[in-house]
Amino acid sequence: MKILLLGGYGLLGSDIYNVLVSKRYEVVRYTKRELNLMDRKKLETVLKYYNPQIVINAAGYTDVNRAQNDFQSAFDINCIGTYNLVYSLKKIDAKLIYISTDYIFNGEKNEPYTEEDEALPLNNYGWTKLVSEDIIRANYKNYYIIRTSWLFGLNGRCFPKIILDKLKNNKKVEVVEDQIGSPTYTIDLAENILDVVNLPYGIYNITNSGNTSWYDYAKLIAEYAGLDSSNIISIKTNKYFEKVKRPSYSVLSNSKWKSYNRPLRHFSEALRDFIDKVI
Ligand SMILES: NC(=O)c1ccc[n+]([C@@H]2O[C@H](COP(=O)([O-])OP(=O)(O)OC[C@H]3O[C@@H](n4cnc5c(N)ncnc54)[C@H](OP(=O)(O)O)[C@@H]3O)[C@@H](O)[C@H]2O)c1
Repeated sequence: MKILLLGGYGLLGSDIYNVLVSKRYEVVRYTKRELNLMDRKKLETVLKYYNPQIVINAAGYTDVNRAQNDFQSAFDINCIGTYNLVYSLKKIDAKLIYISTDYIFNGEKNEPYTEEDEALPLNNYGWTKLVSEDIIRANYKNYYIIRTSWLFGLNGRCFPKIILDKLKNNKKVEVVEDQIGSPTYTIDLAENILDVVNLPYGIYNITNSGNTSWYDYAKLIAEYAGLDSSNIISIKTNKYFEKVKRPSYSVLSNSKWKSYNRPLRHFSEALRDFIDKVI
């Protein structure tokens, strides 16, 4: 089975690549310079030439803060880029696996969001991801949209690395206690990602099990790393000066996924593995 992976050098994409290669799949990945979502002509040429059965798009504009000031770039890459990809895919009819996010929700629910819940993003990044989902749904049949959340992994910037860095350097770090979500280990998602292609087309929430606040998550990181957590200061979102609104609750229900597959392990177990690797 031939797989083409976009974003294969990013936080999630690197682990998708490593895991699939270790399972002996034939995977090609490209850097942004080699294959840009904005270059529809090249996308068409590469897809036609390589003719993959599966295309995984883990590429995108992912900087939530920057998207708030630069909606145009986020929109171009996440929305126009997705349109370019879908348009090019029509010529080869491959299965598309697209990665989306919990940030399409406004967080007003107090129980896990299902795939059918109405999405109403609070920030520009969330809007571009929601629109990209709509572009796929309106224009392509063979799609799997995987919504995941709070990714952490070895190959990129992520919350546990930031916390470890601060604590190792004996710096204080303020962390919000009133935003709840499910941290998800990129390796765990990568291990499961291809299982969707045996399922009906559609949207699937896939995250590690369990949920936490950013503050409790930071404390757990310190505990697992054997670092003093007294430099982690709990704050409320409204005390934290940030231009970008984020959902206060964005736990995704994995019930649909669990009706077909084993649930991903608890995030704390995955975090322990991660910490063992980075410490
Ligand atoms: N990180 C999270 O917590 C999180 C949570 C939920 C969902 N997601 C979703 O998961 C996916 C992967 O996220 P991630 O955290 O792994 O992101 P990431 O580390 O920022 O990786 C994204 C990759 O896309 C590439 N890229 C950017 N613009 C491109 C373009 N125009 N054409 C081709 N490639 C381009 C980037 O290349 P450069 O580095 O060279 O720019 C980078 O390698 C995204 O769709 C994101 O929305 C992420």
